[in-house]
Amino acid sequence: MPPAIGQVLFDAETIARRVRDLGRELAETYRDREPVLVAVMKGCVLFLADLVRAWEGPMDLEFITAESYEGTEPGAVHLAVPEGLADRVAGRPVLVVDDIFDTGATLATVREALLAMGAEEVRSVVLLHKHTDAAPPSSAPAGPAAPDWVGFDVADRFVVGYGLDLDGRYRNLSYVAALRKG
Ligand code: IMP
Ligand code: MG
Repeated sequence: MPPAIGQVLFDAETIARRVRDLGRELAETYRDREPVLVAVMKGCVLFLADLVRAWEGPMDLEFITAESYEGTEPGAVHLAVPEGLADRVAGRPVLVVDDIFDTGATLATVREALLAMGAEEVRSVVLLHKHTDAAPPSSAPAGPAAPDWVGFDVADRFVVGYGLDLDGRYRNLSYVAALRKG
């Protein structure tokens, strides 16, 4: 385990089980509507790859890039939209796939952009939903851009692994872990 890594919050097996269930549930929900999954790069790649392999049903895959973090501090959201994406989402049900919902700024920005491109509907699935200590998951109010599906709830701390990075590192860990304190 890298020296900066602290407590493992979700091990590979736990993640695999949950993501498989999510994939099956989503496929069942969308059935033959053939949604376009818009994956938010780069944090979602491991989650996405496992999610779609559990998805038995028609779906299409597109990508968008969002960046907001400087180290462990959130900043303004920058989107990079591939050419022609609007043509491929217009009039279609869209499911945004992201690694983690924290302030919600990323998902809100992506959702707005996709609706402006003419998406019929925009829903979202995230691997992790971060909650402040003051508002535990069960009592957290659902904001306007709250994710529609969540893999796991996590407390308000910086996490890495299974796609999540700290300045580009640790995305390749097979588990999700907190950083070592100090
Ligand atoms: P939001 O815009 O505040 O909801 O933050 C969402 C984005 O910030 C995610 O797509 C992640 O890329 C990044 N992010 C937020 N929290 C963490 C974390 O704990 N570890 C790694 N990336 C994070
Ligand atoms: Mg991200």
